[in-house]
Amino acid sequence: MSNVIISPSILSADFANLERDIKLVEDAGADWIHVDVMDGHFVPNITIGVPVVKSIKKIAKIPLDVHLMIENPEKYIKPFADAGADILTFHYEAVQDVKSVIDLIKSFNVKAGVSIKPKTSPDEVLEYLKYLDLLLVMTVEPGFGGQSFMGDCAEKIPVIKRHAPENLIIQVDGGINAETAKICTNYGANSLVAGNYIYKSDNIKSAIQSLR
Ligand code: DX5
Ligand code: ZN
Repeated sequence: MSNVIISPSILSADFANLERDIKLVEDAGADWIHVDVMDGHFVPNITIGVPVVKSIKKIAKIPLDVHLMIENPEKYIKPFADAGADILTFHYEAVQDVKSVIDLIKSFNVKAGVSIKPKTSPDEVLEYLKYLDLLLVMTVEPGFGGQSFMGDCAEKIPVIKRHAPENLIIQVDGGINAETAKICTNYGANSLVAGNYIYKSDNIKSAIQSLR
């Protein structure tokens, strides 16, 4: 048994069959649903927004882990909280005042996460760890599913872990499979996002189990 939180990314699901693909991972033992929101500015890609989160919330039985890859995330915290996000993670690089965005998220009784891109040093976020529920270490450049894991990013995990309060969730996202998951959990990550590895596998249940 392990207490790693598995959060399948629906970016790799079939958007014409989202309900089916969410149920697939729920039945296979997923803990959260990872929702990648991209605005075409903070990252080059555009994905989904508030109305889709609202619809997903009606059918999902497990928490919605919403990863905001957008500029000015503070403008969209309330809409995503109202839509039913259970965890809201924004990018450190996208805001001026990190603490105020954390406080804003928490004011809606939503769990607050901060994410760092591959080139951002973990030292920059250490002062915020005590206010956070989750710290997301990106192990690819955000923007697209199906990229290769960047091993040097995973080396940030022990730095975060050393400074983190006991209950901080340390999540990784990008290029996670059974092999790279092990590297990350050995370093101290306790939440894994995986898109392609889960959704493109022939057996979703065993794919999820292999990450634990
Ligand atoms: C990338 C997204 C990821 C993506 C992961 O910018 O944040 O959540 O869906 O996809 P895989 O697991 O395929 O690398
Ligand atoms: Zn993501």
